[in-house]
Amino acid sequence: MKKKIKSIWNTRINKKTSSLFQKMGSSIEVDKRLFKEDIDGSIAHVEMLCKQKIISFKIKNKIIWGLNKIENEIKKKKFVFRIEYEDIHMNIEKRLYDIIGEDAGFMHSARSRNDQVLTDLKLWMKKSTIELIEGLKNLNKHFVNLAEKNVYTIMPGFTHLKNAQPISLGHYLLAYIEMFGRDLNRFNYNLNNLNESPLGVGALSGTSFNIDRKFTAKKLKFKKISNNSIDTVSDRDFALDFLFSCATCSMHISRLSEEFIIWNSDAFNFISLKDSLVTGSSMMPQKKNPDPLEYLRGKSGNAYGNLFSMFTILKGLPLSYFKDLQDDKNLIFKSFDDLKNSILILSEIIKNINFNKKKMLQLASIGYITSTDLAEHIVQKLKIPFRKSYEITAKIVNYAEKNNKTLDQISIKEIQKIEKKLDSDVLKILNLENSIKSKKSYGGTSFENVNRMIKKYKKGINVK
Ligand code: ARG
Repeated sequence: MKKKIKSIWNTRINKKTSSLFQKMGSSIEVDKRLFKEDIDGSIAHVEMLCKQKIISFKIKNKIIWGLNKIENEIKKKKFVFRIEYEDIHMNIEKRLYDIIGEDAGFMHSARSRNDQVLTDLKLWMKKSTIELIEGLKNLNKHFVNLAEKNVYTIMPGFTHLKNAQPISLGHYLLAYIEMFGRDLNRFNYNLNNLNESPLGVGALSGTSFNIDRKFTAKKLKFKKISNNSIDTVSDRDFALDFLFSCATCSMHISRLSEEFIIWNSDAFNFISLKDSLVTGSSMMPQKKNPDPLEYLRGKSGNAYGNLFSMFTILKGLPLSYFKDLQDDKNLIFKSFDDLKNSILILSEIIKNINFNKKKMLQLASIGYITSTDLAEHIVQKLKIPFRKSYEITAKIVNYAEKNNKTLDQISIKEIQKIEKKLDSDVLKILNLENSIKSKKSYGGTSFENVNRMIKKYKKGINVK
């Protein structure tokens, strides 16, 4: 006999929901991903109901037995998700009726889907946030290893994409450790709000049942319980925090990807990627394109979009629950999946990148890149103001440019024609390696500093 599919509210609402709305309004395809959290939340809830003598021990055990059976069915892909039952909460509740009969109805005492969905989502987000944190820690380990191999690799540091000052490639790579470290901290910080249990606030005003919210919070490993039932069901700040953190991290990945795409161009030729990280062209046989980097660069667009969708859903939304909020999950899942994959792909790239050190050094040798070193030397040597020495240096650069020479190709005699008080000490200053060595100020690029920072990161990363 074909089973009659009835909604929970069919006594009150006697027409079937329009099939068009059913299709649109159902979230099961998205929120079925929360099945484990939903079952864990329900088990904690009925344990609390039993402890508080709201339901009997026998019924509690029956419900838990049924829920475990459902979990198994879902894991074994034997569960039929029905859009008629709208979401994961009602799909599971309906199935529980099939398995244990009318006693299933005791499960939803002192609970609304409004606090239920938040419990599920926060539990899922806690787990996923920790997964992202682990991914970032791992990524940073790859950065430290790569930096360690490239402390003494000299490259031009850029501003405006013009040669600015020579730097250690290791120092450049450590910059990303700082960025991903901030991302890591942001995700860690978000755990505070995610650690507030919403379970027990009901539809919006709490419940007249004598519940124990602290008990369910503890069972589900939340650190505290939320304060205000109305705020709890309306609040999606934790979703914004998550989406913002994903967007920022994705932006960092995008910046690095763009830089590597430039470095991979034939014009720069700073890096080469293993064959497993490039794709060919359907027409041009010679091509090896850095598609994964372009994918990573582009993904930030989606991450920003998800953040702004959430902001827009929340704009002007009165308290408390509205169906508008249902789309939060789709945005969160999309941002999570993209970022998780992006971190994995980037880790793969960092492990498999080759730097063309010769080309980096060659490019660092042009563009009068040690001019600032020269200006700083003149200040100290002649005890004159920086602005004055800046002018003298500019004259020396003009001279070199006019005579088609690099700074270290001009002789002391030529320099003395411009500033007679300078002696041969100046020649050492124009050397790329010496320039880097001299940047000893804290956070600067000297090899000594970079080695010290690597040690520090290694300790920090292992300890964390
Ligand atoms: N599927 C719903 C959501 O994700 C669950 C909450 C439904 N609450 C309600 N009052 N319609 O938002």
